[in-house]
Amino acid sequence: MAKFLVENKGPLRGEVSISGAKNSVLPIMAATLLCNEECIIQDVPALRDVEVMCQILESLGVKVDADFSNNRLSLNATEILHNETPPELAKRMRASILTMGPILARKGSAVVALPGGCAIGARPIDLHLKGFEALGAEIIFGEHHVEARAEKLKGNRIYLDYPSVGATENIITAAVFAEGTTIIENVAEEPEIVDLANYLNKMGAKIKGAGTDTIKIEGVERLHGTTHTVIPDRIETGTFMVAAAITRGDVLIKNVVPDHVRPVIAKLTECGCVVEDTIDGLRVRGDVNPLVATDIKTLPYPGFPTDMQSQFMALLTTVEGQSTVIETVFENRYMHISELNRMGADITHDGRSAIINGGAPLHGSSVMSTDLRAGAALVLAGLVASGTTEVTEIYHIERGYTEFVDKLRGIGAEIRKED
Ligand code: UD1
Repeated sequence: MAKFLVENKGPLRGEVSISGAKNSVLPIMAATLLCNEECIIQDVPALRDVEVMCQILESLGVKVDADFSNNRLSLNATEILHNETPPELAKRMRASILTMGPILARKGSAVVALPGGCAIGARPIDLHLKGFEALGAEIIFGEHHVEARAEKLKGNRIYLDYPSVGATENIITAAVFAEGTTIIENVAEEPEIVDLANYLNKMGAKIKGAGTDTIKIEGVERLHGTTHTVIPDRIETGTFMVAAAITRGDVLIKNVVPDHVRPVIAKLTECGCVVEDTIDGLRVRGDVNPLVATDIKTLPYPGFPTDMQSQFMALLTTVEGQSTVIETVFENRYMHISELNRMGADITHDGRSAIINGGAPLHGSSVMSTDLRAGAALVLAGLVASGTTEVTEIYHIERGYTEFVDKLRGIGAEIRKED
């Protein structure tokens, strides 16, 4: 099994460039199923999850031409052969559920394997299905799959009980061809939703309000091919910001949208970091002031992202004093705590709250990534732990970070992959 070996080489310094956003490219790739002409997607990160989405699209009949060395994908869904995402691929990636809305809209029926819970929580899809139903689809449950079926979807007013990112994306794509007007209220406001809406609008869709809590979609007859560049990954950005902070380094992070990482900037500043928004990118300095404890609470955008919680917790273990973390988005996103404690951290948790008594020195240990962001947090902790930190189950990390080792080494980290 491949693992990362991480050593403490002191403060990270230099420049790193951020790749395209995983959570943008996946829904955008799925949305391409709506269009029967060639679409070009640029700044595509070379990630495991993107490869799986390519395989899913190919299995559905999409002509996929992937040029990962130039971060470019050409997708042509002239014909969609099936209405079912292969269960073995669907099981490999939860984002496979995002094919459901486009397939339903295009074929009148979509079948997907029921996504089970995952390490970070139950992650049901009730809100996705509620949206399809409101558009007139019939929902049929099998033992291991669910089907949405509708001869013709009709626009409707839909209220989401929770601003789920995936449900917002799936309902938008389902509604693109629906007759009349669809209004979705209490939707997710994440930048990835805006990117998806921009992509679809370039193809001829009529979507307004993305980035606010209400989205309005006028149904159109068809979409045409386009070229789109995905936004930079705000979670990769945040992870490198924390890498600079935790090592008390000085790193310039390029290809970023500062507005997308406002909560991370705010919390790092509260800790005592200096974050400068320069013409070249975000410069994060952890070497100016002594860092102090702070509290974070994860929330839907524009709140503090749950996908940055574990990395920030790693940082909080290194500052003197007590910090609190409250995770409100996922019910079980604390599996990195036992691993960080194994490295010498002092963290306790009860339900959704965790208390970090910071300042205890971290030491290298063999620790396991339990999910993508937890794995990144352990690598960050390894950058400041004494001795060697061995991070196992790194396939989780490779699902979401492109060239993680090379990018970290480029700013002075000592990390290597061992197979
Ligand atoms: C997306 C991101 C993931 C991020 C998450 C929250 C992608 C590919 N993944 O995941 O990295 O951590 O947003 O920012 O974009 N829920 C329900 N019913 C539903 C749908 C969701 O109860 O039908 C709950 C979930 O269990 C969870 C919460 O809503 O507790 C947030 O989930 P959601 O926003 O849907 O996350 P994802 O789209 O799965």
